[in-house]
Amino acid sequence: MNPVKRAGRAVKHRLRGVYADNIAPRVHDSFFRDLVERTANFSHTTWLGDPIWQNVLDLWTIQEVIAQVKPDLLIECGTYKGGSSRFFGDLFELMGHGECITVDIEAHELRRHPRVTYLIGSTLDDEILRPVRERVSAADGPVMVILDDDHSRSHVERELDIYSRFVTPNSYLLVQDGVIDTLKRFAAGRPGPLPAIESFLKRTDQFVVDEDLCGRFLITHHPKGWLRRIS
Ligand SMILES: C[S@@+](CC[C@H](N)C(=O)[O-])C[C@H]1O[C@@H](n2cnc3c(N)ncnc32)[C@H](O)[C@@H]1O
Repeated sequence: MNPVKRAGRAVKHRLRGVYADNIAPRVHDSFFRDLVERTANFSHTTWLGDPIWQNVLDLWTIQEVIAQVKPDLLIECGTYKGGSSRFFGDLFELMGHGECITVDIEAHELRRHPRVTYLIGSTLDDEILRPVRERVSAADGPVMVILDDDHSRSHVERELDIYSRFVTPNSYLLVQDGVIDTLKRFAAGRPGPLPAIESFLKRTDQFVVDEDLCGRFLITHHPKGWLRRIS
């Protein structure tokens, strides 16, 4: 190869490395902070007109995972105003298969969906766990879980121990909002989900972090949040 061309390629290669190691992380970080600021942390986002409190990039990853896993049952902890469960119900309707059970400690006013069962109570209460376990036993296919309710470390740790058992091999347990432990803006909520995930991973050999999903769109509210059941 022409020596001038070779030198040009080497410089380009080095610059790419400098960008990837030093500049890109700062660009992603700044974009993430601005996005959270601009959207008031996605608190006014809607799905077909209903409030849905989700980072839209993470929501797209959830849609891709649902299409790939094709859950028979998706358990969502944290209904809020019902937008996320309606989103899952609509996907299941389009796919022609799947149901969602969603649990919230508060009975919010919300639009109901035929593929969604709404349970009111704490995710850790026996009155909630009993029907959830029954539906899991009757599941005729993959079971997936999303934790999006009380994000405190102690609550998430207990949920991880209980709800991880419902997840079928090669399906996922998504622990949302580990961002609480990484973005200064959310520091008041610490310790949050991230240390709960880390301690759970020390106690189990049945789950691994799917880093590709966590980094799918460069920024995420759920660092280390996509846990894939491997056995
Ligand atoms: C972040 S919001 C859920 C957002 C919703 N998944 C969405 O995307 O629109 C958290 C919800 O968890 C509920 N919550 C808090 N602690 C809970 C608990 N121990 N059990 C069940 N729900 C709880 C709150 O009432 C609140 O509605």
